[in-house]
Amino acid sequence: MEPIDVIILAAGQGKRMRSATPKVLHRVGGRAMIDHVLRAVMTTTDDEAPVVVVGHGADAVRAALPPGARTVMQAEQLGTGHAVMTVMPIVHERAGHVLVTYGDLPLVRAETYRALVAAQAAACAGATLLSTVRDDPRGYGRVLRDAAGEFLRIVEEADCTPTERAVREINTGIACFAAAPLRAALRTLDRNNAQGEYYLTDVFARLRAAGHRVGILTVAEVDEVMGINSRGELARAESVLRARTLERLMGEGVTIVDPATTYIADGAQVGADTVIHPFSVIDEACVIGRRCAIGPGAHLIGSRVGDGVRVWWSVVEQSEMGDACIIGPFSHLRPGCRLGRGVEVGNYAEMKKAEVGDGTKVHHMSYLGDAMLGASVNIGAGTVTCNLRYGSREKHRTIIDDGAFIGSDTMLNAPVRIGAGAVTGAGSVVTKDVPAGKLAIGVPARVIRSLQAAGEEPKP
Ligand code: UD1
Ligand code: CA
Repeated sequence: MEPIDVIILAAGQGKRMRSATPKVLHRVGGRAMIDHVLRAVMTTTDDEAPVVVVGHGADAVRAALPPGARTVMQAEQLGTGHAVMTVMPIVHERAGHVLVTYGDLPLVRAETYRALVAAQAAACAGATLLSTVRDDPRGYGRVLRDAAGEFLRIVEEADCTPTERAVREINTGIACFAAAPLRAALRTLDRNNAQGEYYLTDVFARLRAAGHRVGILTVAEVDEVMGINSRGELARAESVLRARTLERLMGEGVTIVDPATTYIADGAQVGADTVIHPFSVIDEACVIGRRCAIGPGAHLIGSRVGDGVRVWWSVVEQSEMGDACIIGPFSHLRPGCRLGRGVEVGNYAEMKKAEVGDGTKVHHMSYLGDAMLGASVNIGAGTVTCNLRYGSREKHRTIIDDGAFIGSDTMLNAPVRIGAGAVTGAGSVVTKDVPAGKLAIGVPARVIRSLQAAGEEPKP
C-alpha cells in the first residue's frame, strides 16, 4: 500500500473543560489523552511519526510529546479544516493517503485505525470516514446519507435543521483521505457556517461534488469514539478505559474482587492467579508477578513486585521487591527501595532508598532511609536511621550487615555501620560503628562485650 501520513489535531483550547491545561493534556487512565492517540495511530504507519497540530498551550503540548515528534503550529485556531490546511505543507509528497484524527479521542483502538486505513486503500475512495450511531448524538456532526444509503454530507450540530438534528449517525472526526483530492478540496473550504470556522467536515461533500467516492466505516462500540470535551466526558472515558483494562487482566487470569473500587492503569502488567482486593490503585508502570495478593487498600506507583507478594493498606512508590515479600498494613515504601525475597515490612514502617536483603524483617513503627540492610536482619520497633544532620543537606547512609539484631527504639546516627550479627540494646543511640558480633548499648551506645566470645544467642 502507498505510504500514509498521520495528522493529529490538538490545537484547540477545549473551552468546555474550563481549564488552564490544554485539553489534550488532561489525563485518562494515568496518561495524557494525546499520548493514547499517539500510541494507537503509531501502528498504522511504519516510517514516520505522526504530525501533531499544536496551538493553544503549544509549549506544554510539545513538551508532553515523545522525542522526535513532528509538530506544526496553528497560531490562530480557525477550525478543523484550517488545522489540516496548516499541516499539509509538511505532509510527505510521497504520502498517498492522509489519516486525520483528533487529540481528544483517547479511547480509539489501534485496530480501528488499521481497519479504516485498510478500507480506504481497498475502496480507491476520495476518503473513508469513521462514523458511529449514538442514542444521544448531541454535540457531534451528523452524517447524512442519500436514498441509496451513500454518503451525502456532514452537518455540524450548530448548523442542523430540526430534522437533521434527529439523525443519530455521527462523525467521529476520524477519516482517511487520498492525499491529492484532499489538498484540492481544502483549497475550496469557506467559513460560511454558524461557527464561522473552516470545517474539515465540509471536505467530504467537496470530494463527492468533485466525483470522488466517500466511504463510511461504522464503529459498533460507541464509547470507543467518544470525544472528550468536558470534565463529565473525561470521567466517562476514565471509566470506559478502566473497565477495558480490568477485562483484559481478568482475561489474563487475574482475579479482581471488586472492579468498582479497583483502579489499574492500562499499561500495568499483572501475573496470573494474582488477586486484587478492593480499594486498590495500580499505576501505569507497575509490573506485578503471579499469585500475589494486592490490597485491600494497596497503592502501587511505578513499582515491580515479584511472585507471591502481599501488599495491603500500604503505598509503594518507584520501588522493587522480590518474591514472597509482605508489605503492610500501613507501610510506605518511598522511591528507591529494593527488597530481596521474603522481606517483611509491617505496621507503620517507612523506607526510602533502602536496599534490604532476603528474609529481613522490619515489623513495627520504623524509618529506614538511605540504608543498606543485609539478609536476615531484624529491625526492632521504633528504629530510626537519623540520616539528616541539623544544618546539613547531605543525607548520610546506614549499613546494617547480615543477621544483625537492632533493639527496639535504636537511633542509628548515620553515617554508621552495624556489623554482621551485632546487636544493639533497646533505646540505644548509636553514633559509632558497631563491629560484627558485638553488643552495644546505651546513650551514646558503647560496645560492652563480644557476642561470639560469650557464645550466646542474640536476644531482644
Ligand atoms: C468535531 C467535528 C464533528 C465531530 C466531532 C467528533 C468538525 C468541524 N467537527 O467537532 O463533526 O462529530 O469533532 O468528536 O470537525 N482543533 C484544532 N484546530 C482548530 C480547531 C480544532 O487543532 O482550529 C482540534 C481540537 O484541538 C480537537 C479537534 O480538533 O482536538 C476537534 O475540535 P473540537 O472543537 O473538539 O471539535 P468538535 O466540536 O468536537
Ligand atoms: Ca471534540
